[in-house]
Amino acid sequence: MKIPCNPKSENAFLQNSPSWPNLLDERTAKRLAKKHGTPLLVGRKSRIRQRFLGMQQHLPQVDIYYAMKANSDRALLRVLQEMGAGFDVASEGECTRVRDVIGTLCNTVFSNPCKTVQAIHHAYDYGCRKFVFDCQSELEKLVQLPIDAGLHLRISVPAGSCRVNLSRRFGATMEQVESLATLASHHGRSITGIAFHVGSQATDPGDFEVAFQLAEVARKLLSRSGHKIECINLGGGFPVDYGNIESSQIDSHSSSLNLESYLSSLIKFRDRFSLEETNDRFSEMPQVSGKQIQISSKGMIQWMAEPGRALVAEAVTLLTTVIGVKKLSDGTPLYTIDDGVYGSFSGRYFPPDHFRLVPVTPRDSKDSDINAIPSMICGPSCDGGDVLAESQSLPSLKIGSLLQVPMMGAYTSVGASHFNGLEKAKRIWIE
Ligand SMILES: Cc1ncc(COP(=O)(O)O)c(C=O)c1O
Repeated sequence: MKIPCNPKSENAFLQNSPSWPNLLDERTAKRLAKKHGTPLLVGRKSRIRQRFLGMQQHLPQVDIYYAMKANSDRALLRVLQEMGAGFDVASEGECTRVRDVIGTLCNTVFSNPCKTVQAIHHAYDYGCRKFVFDCQSELEKLVQLPIDAGLHLRISVPAGSCRVNLSRRFGATMEQVESLATLASHHGRSITGIAFHVGSQATDPGDFEVAFQLAEVARKLLSRSGHKIECINLGGGFPVDYGNIESSQIDSHSSSLNLESYLSSLIKFRDRFSLEETNDRFSEMPQVSGKQIQISSKGMIQWMAEPGRALVAEAVTLLTTVIGVKKLSDGTPLYTIDDGVYGSFSGRYFPPDHFRLVPVTPRDSKDSDINAIPSMICGPSCDGGDVLAESQSLPSLKIGSLLQVPMMGAYTSVGASHFNGLEKAKRIWIE
């Protein structure tokens, strides 16, 4: 079933569907809001565990390194560590966080292709042995590390269906792969890993097929220069259902089910790929230096992935309170709430109306659906751009009305600021 496009029926769907996994029941929502105040981000550890186990099951033989840039809450990191996850770190600050919470960086990959020298040494000193690079200057930083530091080359893959394009900025082209291989050899170092990222919120698993093909081309090129690839990192990008995605992959009934079928397709591409020695499929592969690359996929590879969004988005729900009510000149109600684009809605890649704001009412309340009308919702800052929804179907609200927003676990609190002197949302984790 596709998600209805009519905003009124969308909200009705969210409120009434028992399959929407993220809404807090009325009693819990009110109790937590009363106890902690709002804005409040409520995380559920059980959802993290479920999602991690689901991913492990549907990504067989893939080691999961959680991309903690999505949400670096200590409680969350602890849960994931207990489940056996590794961590993808992006900065010295994230290294320090992992060191403080976990005690070591042994199970981390430093995946940001551009790092300070200080961050690199800090990570190495605390046990990190996987470092990603995509250009000469970064490789020159990494070759200063002792020989047991693994060098993983990030390759550029096309941005297909993703919402957040990581391809323009990151990744080496196939031509650059050859020169980087030569440079590493010159320093007496071996490139042992290939990494890619199809872009975040990539709704079409077919994007991975293209990426696997390019990884194989890169592997062949590297092996010609004497570099034996032991590890392929397929990055993150797995999508979540925010309730408004136009995609054949997403059907609204269960985001976890959808993710499972997505991952199964991805694994089929991988398995097909690693079973075939040479294949006609590659006849259309990009030519490098005018030669068609012959593909061979033998040998044991450690597969790893760095999911961020898909592991944590659905586990967190925001509770927020209406602090202002007015009518626009055309009669549209405008509600101002106590969290906004400078707070938990800081993920700037999504247009207004992306997140669903749901009044906290009894689950079976039909009245609110019937009386819902298109409304505008703004955040608390004194900024005209702090708009969360242009036309979201809501019943009549008043100052003090409590709303909840599901799917707020990824790229939300991590980007929040104190702009306008506003408080960031408090964060709690319950079972
Ligand atoms: C290198 C790297 N790995 C993993 C991720 C996580 O991606 P996602 O949250 O889409 O799974 C990102 C996101 O930007 C990234 O840059």
